[in-house]
Amino acid sequence: MKQVKFTQMKDGTREEYEFLTAHEIDHTRHTADRLLKALVELDESLSGYQVTRLGHSLQSATRAWRDGADTDWVVSALLHDIGDIYAPYNHDEYAATILKPFVREQCAWVVQTHGDFQMLYYGHHLDGFDQHKRDRHRDHPCFDDNAAFCERWDQASFDPNYDTLPLGFFAPMVREVFDRTPYDAEVIRPGHREPLTNPVIAEERAT
Ligand SMILES: [Fe+2]
Ligand SMILES: [Fe+2]
Repeated sequence: MKQVKFTQMKDGTREEYEFLTAHEIDHTRHTADRLLKALVELDESLSGYQVTRLGHSLQSATRAWRDGADTDWVVSALLHDIGDIYAPYNHDEYAATILKPFVREQCAWVVQTHGDFQMLYYGHHLDGFDQHKRDRHRDHPCFDDNAAFCERWDQASFDPNYDTLPLGFFAPMVREVFDRTPYDAEVIRPGHREPLTNPVIAEERAT
């Protein structure tokens, strides 16, 4: 079978749906490659900063890596703004939706709400923005993680002179994350918080 015969889903047969499922599984295997390609497309979006969106993403991931953060954190830092391409008004939720089946719940939540936390750094300069929008998340157990994510990795990563690692350095980590079994309880670890920084690992990576 090369393609199904039906023109309305309700007319499909078991054989056709099994064929489509096999196709879909093959398609999902290449998610990491599609994301890496999308990151390169980020290079073309949102000019005006001293670094491109890709440069910002790589710099955020590099800072996470150099802080000794684990793979979930590094990949989340790398992809946190990937929603800028198609969802400029809720880019954080968009990125979190991509990450959610494959990273710790803690990281997905931080990416999902980082936009509210970032407002701390610029909201007071603009009319109609609430600088303290992050306060609505005050009771969330990962509030401090998000504050640290934004302070250390996101708001800090617009420096054209920073020694940023290339996309190829992070590609194996992206592949590892998106090769995981989706929604694996051992990955999602609801309620578990992993620190953003690990001084021992940071020291190892610095040498
Ligand atoms: Fe963002
Ligand atoms: Fe960002």
